[in-house]
Amino acid sequence: MRLDKFICKSTEYDLVDATALIENSRVVVNEVITHEPTHQVHKNNVVTLDGKTLTPRLSRYFMLNKPLNMICSNIDEQYPSALNLLDIDNKTELHIAGRLDADTTGLVLITDDGHWSFNITAPKNKCEKVYKVVLSRPISPDITQRFQQGILLQGESSPTLPATLHIIDAHNVLLTLTEGRFHQIKRMFSAIGNRVKSLHRQQIANLELDVDIGHWRSLTQAEVEALSLSDKLL
Ligand code: URA
Repeated sequence: MRLDKFICKSTEYDLVDATALIENSRVVVNEVITHEPTHQVHKNNVVTLDGKTLTPRLSRYFMLNKPLNMICSNIDEQYPSALNLLDIDNKTELHIAGRLDADTTGLVLITDDGHWSFNITAPKNKCEKVYKVVLSRPISPDITQRFQQGILLQGESSPTLPATLHIIDAHNVLLTLTEGRFHQIKRMFSAIGNRVKSLHRQQIANLELDVDIGHWRSLTQAEVEALSLSDKLL
């Protein structure tokens, strides 16, 4: 972790304060004064501020059921950030693992553990995400094969990875993806001449969304660990 972030995670200071503390020679790493905010700090390093040893807070992990018209960015833009829904301290340390569009609802994972979220979002890990899709036109059962084979999206040179389409009825399907390209599901259905009316993520790996829209909860230790291993479970 970067030294400036380590200080934020161990104190109530923000990144600007942390940089100033480092530049003013108040931070020592393994008995050496360090002036570089990007200096990498490892688990067994001893970091002191004004002579006091710093201990970072434990990482935090949450699930949130994102409502419509909120975004998965850390800052408010055209729509407010979904992080506004969490009434907890030190929210600036958190980020959302894998974005949903403003008009998509459902499961988002929130954490301050970059390694954990990387594991979930890294394409090579093929972590499965399950979406409930409502379509504007009826879908025919033989289309499941196209999703399995991969679909070439407009402007892209490689087809999508195999995706599993489960048809509930003519306008309602479940789609399981292991990648997350820009507006991927909307573009996949557009490529086959259909249109997504609504999109809701209900599961990531083995973790199912179980809070109401706009609500959130902490993940259990077992859930956090299962998602750390999700690449091996799938
Ligand atoms: N695919 C989309 O088109 N949008 C999302 O939010 C997620 C997947």
